[in-house]
Amino acid sequence: MNNVLEFMGKDHDRLDGVFKDFRSAMNSDISKAKQLFHDFKTGLQKHIVWEEEILFPLFENKTRMFDEGPTAIMRMEHRQIKDFLEKIHKRISEKDCDVELLQAGLIEVLTEHNNKEESILYPWIDKETSELEREEAFAKMKNLSPEKYCKCCGE
Ligand SMILES: [Fe+2]
Ligand SMILES: [Fe+2]
Repeated sequence: MNNVLEFMGKDHDRLDGVFKDFRSAMNSDISKAKQLFHDFKTGLQKHIVWEEEILFPLFENKTRMFDEGPTAIMRMEHRQIKDFLEKIHKRISEKDCDVELLQAGLIEVLTEHNNKEESILYPWIDKETSELEREEAFAKMKNLSPEKYCKCCGE
């Protein structure tokens, strides 16, 4: 195991599923929608910390591409994604359910971003790192402190 593409691709799919459930709950059950958005937001924040602190450095340290190259662009896209999360979160907590446009914007950025990771970055990591390096990365991901990503609804 220790396949980055498989593991992270599955997490993309899992998060897509939570977001889809959130969107349909917005039309029927607001408190359920809030819970689902909370799960989505903290889950995606965790996923981003895994990438920025553990997986991207595997690429950056080997290629010496830090401020330019694919991970620099992906870090910038993460900031856009997190900005959408905060804006949607604010609307929902103010009981304003008009989040259609923000949702569409988030999906647009996120879809292309995830596709790039799955087609370029994750396969590169699987190919260019050793089994041991990936084992260490997965261990770090597992032990990540929740304070790093559990920021939602006043937590
Ligand atoms: Fe990402
Ligand atoms: Fe990702």
